[in-house]
Amino acid sequence: MIKLGIIGMGKMGEAVAAGLRGSKAYSVRGTTRSAESANEAKKKLGIDCGTDNLALAKESEVLLLCVKPHQAEKVLREISPALTNKKLLITICASLTTEQVSAWSDERCSVIRAMPNTPCLIGEGMTVFCGGPNTNPAQMEIVSKIFGVLGKTAVIEESLMDGATGLSGCGPAYAYLIIEALSEAGVKVGLPRDVSTLLAAQTLRGASQMVLDRGVHPAALKDEVTTPAGCTIDGLMALEEGKLRVTLIKAVLAAAKRSRGLRA
Ligand SMILES: NC(=O)c1ccc[n+]([C@@H]2O[C@H](COP(=O)([O-])OP(=O)(O)OC[C@H]3O[C@@H](n4cnc5c(N)ncnc54)[C@H](OP(=O)(O)O)[C@@H]3O)[C@@H](O)[C@H]2O)c1
Repeated sequence: MIKLGIIGMGKMGEAVAAGLRGSKAYSVRGTTRSAESANEAKKKLGIDCGTDNLALAKESEVLLLCVKPHQAEKVLREISPALTNKKLLITICASLTTEQVSAWSDERCSVIRAMPNTPCLIGEGMTVFCGGPNTNPAQMEIVSKIFGVLGKTAVIEESLMDGATGLSGCGPAYAYLIIEALSEAGVKVGLPRDVSTLLAAQTLRGASQMVLDRGVHPAALKDEVTTPAGCTIDGLMALEEGKLRVTLIKAVLAAAKRSRGLRA
């Protein structure tokens, strides 16, 4: 059983702890900044949660850093004395590089950088991750297994992490905006709000599942819906006029730029 310590039991730390609950492969403990939030996490998740990061670091084999990026340096300097080359530190902090995280922890252990997203909360997350200078395949496998419980995973080069942050890390927000807009459209054509939101969300879900299951280019699936002189082509023309595609590309680039900028 792997002793996993989660530092920061906010949205993401909680998602991981909840996902691994009941798994016999991990024993999970956590910390937060305040005793109140530690007690809340304890009650909510039924796991041991306190505020002593150093003690957690000492007793954990794998540490998952889930604090806000600006809180990371303080925490890492605090736990550094407890780190050894037998421990693995996984950081999910947006923007922070493995080099930065290693330096703040005095290069005392291996570091893997991961970027999950909020659908991890329901086991439908997407997590990308990359190894740092001293990581080995067994450690990469540990990360793959932990986040595999919470959805899908992919290994990428660290140089692509900011871009992936802009796509899958921030992506749920883009998808919610699209669902909201489609739902507004449904209301505009006369559907009740709840039915309209169901239609929008389930349509995106079904289309996503088609892309994942069929493994064909999304454009081919789009062609299947688009009957010559039918309705869909008129809808697609309106989307092209509104520059939906280039707008989405720009959204990912803007978020990726911000991810790079947060470190500057
Ligand atoms: N939200 C997302 O969609 C998302 C996606 C991918 C990655 N991330 C990354 O995940 C990280 C966490 O994000 P989040 O949305 O989960 O943040 P959050 O909800 O604000 O949670 C932050 C957690 O860190 C704890 N914390 C702060 N300082 C601490 C300290 N010194 N020692 C121990 N715990 C401390 C907080 O405890 P208190 O409550 O007591 O202050 C809280 O439990 C961020 O670095 C973010 O970039 C987020």
